[in-house]
This record gives sequence, structure tokens and C-alpha cells, in this order.
Amino acid sequence: MHETVAHGHRPVLLDDVVELCATLPGALVVDGTLGRGGHAAALLERGVRLVGLDRDPDAIAAVRARLGPEVELHQAPFSRIPELLGERRADAVLLDLGVSSPQIDTASRGFSFRNDGPLDMRMDPTSGEPVSAWLEHVDDTELADVLFRLGEERQSRRIARAILAARPIHTTGQLADIVAKTIGRGDGRIHPATRTFQALRMVINDELGQLDAALRAIPELLAPGGRFVVIAFHSLEDRAVKQAFRTLAGEGGPVDFKGQPLTSPRFRLVERRARKGEERDPTNPRARSARLRALERLP
Ligand SMILES: C[S@@+](CC[C@H](N)C(=O)[O-])C[C@H]1O[C@@H](n2cnc3c(N)ncnc32)[C@H](O)[C@@H]1O
Repeated sequence: MHETVAHGHRPVLLDDVVELCATLPGALVVDGTLGRGGHAAALLERGVRLVGLDRDPDAIAAVRARLGPEVELHQAPFSRIPELLGERRADAVLLDLGVSSPQIDTASRGFSFRNDGPLDMRMDPTSGEPVSAWLEHVDDTELADVLFRLGEERQSRRIARAILAARPIHTTGQLADIVAKTIGRGDGRIHPATRTFQALRMVINDELGQLDAALRAIPELLAPGGRFVVIAFHSLEDRAVKQAFRTLAGEGGPVDFKGQPLTSPRFRLVERRARKGEERDPTNPRARSARLRALERLP
């Protein structure tokens, strides 16, 4: 744990992740979102066997340097966990969704409206298209819909029109200026382009599609007693996790005349309520909007 903190950023909900995932020494734990490897390092300190993934090649290089050559790491999206695990069954799978601080802070990755860089935002820059290219062929209805749905941006139509009129857009600075000029500075609490950047990042990385694939496949990969732990930062993601976990735990399914479920569920919720970052980890600014939920496979 000392090593994890020494790296400057305390991983979000670290104690909760260790408590829920490192249940026994030698447990097989999959970290599907390594980032800079903070959770992974703490889990390894507890003696688990780790399989780590990140779709970002820079994350894999940094974690390889940090954790050494012995640990099993894959540069891959977490939708590929089933194929990478093969016949193995996991005692825990962790997904800490979204982007990492190094991704945001590195201007050349194009995630930041504060540091000017190429308008890219791909977590894996070796596949798919950057935001700048996507904006060249999207139409204004689709763009407005993405900004509204994924960014919860109320001025989505105005922003979409302004973006399309200003194309081509090559840099994060250009995009941030277009949004700020279109909707003004707001109340100054957050940068006016925050919601637009979030929405574009989510669409370009198909983040909801990735989560949906994981929610379908991962519960089946758990060993008896194994846990699936997800930390979400976006209300749409947290809602998807909550609904999927409740359904798997047998809630909302058919019941008999006494109200008992007709089929016995194979999973249970570790807790009904999400663990909230701002309550569990009040000193960590990155944890503010975090929601952790955990599902357990019954023995
Ligand atoms: C919030 S950070 C994780 C931080 C990490 N838990 C730590 O302790 O440093 C999210 C990471 O997940 C990765 N990521 C996001 N979506 C992914 C996906 N679908 N497949 C694989 N990696 C993903 C990002 O590239 C990023 O490095």
C-alpha cells in the first residue's frame, strides 16, 4: 500500500477494492483497467495472482515497468477478458472505468481542454479514429444526440451546429474555444467544454458498448464466491451496472404466489447500495463521483 501512495495519486476507493477483491492469497484477480497500476500493485501486495489489461499501450508499458516482467499483462480492451482467461475462472474482476490521470495530463493524447494537443482522445491510439476524424463525417443530429446523452449537455444542439460549422477541428484548444464561445463561461464551476469532451471521449472509445459487453460476459467467468467489482464515474454507467447486477441477483424476475423468485439466482449483491467515493474517500478529489458496486457468484 505504501508503494501505491508513493506514486502520487491514491487509486480511487483503494481499501474497498482490496477488501472486496483480495479475499484469499493466491486468488486469481483480473484488473481490466490497469491505468497506472495503483489497484493492481496493492492487490499484488496481498498475494493475489494478477491478470492485468488496459487498452492503452502507454499504460501497459508503465505498469510493466512498475510491476516487473512476471505479471501477466495484456494490451487489450476488457471486452476481451473471456478470450484471454480461456478456461480459467476468476476470484475477482475489477473495472475502474473511464480515463486515467496520465491520459488527461498528457497533451499529445488529446483528452484535455486545458493543455492544447491534437484532438484525438483514443485510449488505444493504434485503433479506431481520432475525434478530429469522427467529426468530419458525423451529422448534426447524431452529434447533438451524443452530446446530450453521454455529456448531459443541455445546449447540445447549439454546440453541435457550431462544431460542424467550424470543421475541420484539429486541436483540443480549438474545440474548447468553439464550445466556450457558443455557450459562454457558465457559472465558472466547470469549464464549459467539460461535458462536450466527456461525451466525445465516451463515443470515440465506445465506452458504453465495452461496459455492456463486460456486464454480459464477466459474471459467467467468476469462480464460485468470486466477485465482479465495478467503479463508475458516470450516471449512465452506474445505472447500467446497477440494473445488470440486480437482474443477475434475481431481482425483478418472476415470483411465486408467496413472492419468492421462481428460479434461484446464481449471484447476490454484496451490498444493495453503491459505495460512494465522496463518503468513503473524502480526501481524494478523483473519487468524488465514484460509485462502486459488487456482485458475488454464489457457491
Ligand atoms: C480510471 S483508470 C484506472 C486507474 C487504475 N485503477 C489505477 O489504480 O491506476 C482507467 C483505465 O482504464 C483503461 N480503460 C478504459 N476503458 C477500457 C476498456 N474498455 N478496456 C481496457 N482498458 C480500458 C483506460 O485506458 C485507463 O488506463
